Amino acid sequence: MAVKIIKTVREMHCAADRIRQAGLRIGLVPTMGYLHKGHLSLVRQALKVTDRIVVSIFVNPLQFGPTEDLAAYPRNLDRDLKLLDQHGVHLAYLPDQKEIYPGDFATSVRVAKLTERLCGASRPGHFEGVTTIVTKLFAAVKPHVAVFGQKDAQQTIVIQRMVRDLNLDVEIQMAPTVREADGLAMSSRNAYLSAEERREAPALYRALMVGQKMIGRGERRAQRVIEAMRDVIEPQRSAEIDYIEAVDAKNLTPVAELKDSILLAVAVRFGNARLIDNALVHIK
Ligand code: PAF
Repeated sequence: MAVKIIKTVREMHCAADRIRQAGLRIGLVPTMGYLHKGHLSLVRQALKVTDRIVVSIFVNPLQFGPTEDLAAYPRNLDRDLKLLDQHGVHLAYLPDQKEIYPGDFATSVRVAKLTERLCGASRPGHFEGVTTIVTKLFAAVKPHVAVFGQKDAQQTIVIQRMVRDLNLDVEIQMAPTVREADGLAMSSRNAYLSAEERREAPALYRALMVGQKMIGRGERRAQRVIEAMRDVIEPQRSAEIDYIEAVDAKNLTPVAELKDSILLAVAVRFGNARLIDNALVHIK
């Protein structure tokens, strides 16, 4: 296998220093494993803009709430490593939980406000877990560019703000969401869906399309757009809506009148899977 596996922070520092000393640029794709086409599209994006690609695989306990799916989170390391190898990834960083979070670990990175909205409202502490691990990954991998997916748009916006606020020397890129043929956004959590839930889950994408079309036809009342999106999702028997929102794409605050850049965002529970999706709409 050509992909090199790195398991300790020290080894990762040395590998990153060697790449940088050779004048090459490092691209990082942070993941929690159980890779799918969405992750691989992030790898392709990183390959376009950097010379050496590091994919980290670490199921980060800090970003799971006490009642969430940490223990059940799907894992398949052998398959992941084969995929990374086939897609030209140079280094797989698989840090050990004990080294990442020693017993007396006491530091965290928190971005205020942006993390209290959308998913942050229903998953308290989640984004603090994300920004803490991403900071640690940046410190270990020393990337020039890190690529995140638009499916987790709030996560990417929070990380962009963290990088700006902390003056971190890394460029954050957001790559488009990769979808199944019926529009369902690819996600490791789709593995939890029963056959019926899987049939119903593309309603998220259809709702976003309905919202986008209404805005395209000139609708500027956020409430009208949200109601129309709700009308697509609510009839699905297994859907439990967490939120359907239209927010300002920069600060993630809800808007009454749609203008400039808007994020239409949805989070819906289907059985054990909490699925999210979004569409970015630019209004002229
Ligand atoms: O998007 C994810 O898979 C995770 O939140 C990330 C960025 C790898 C941090 O654990």
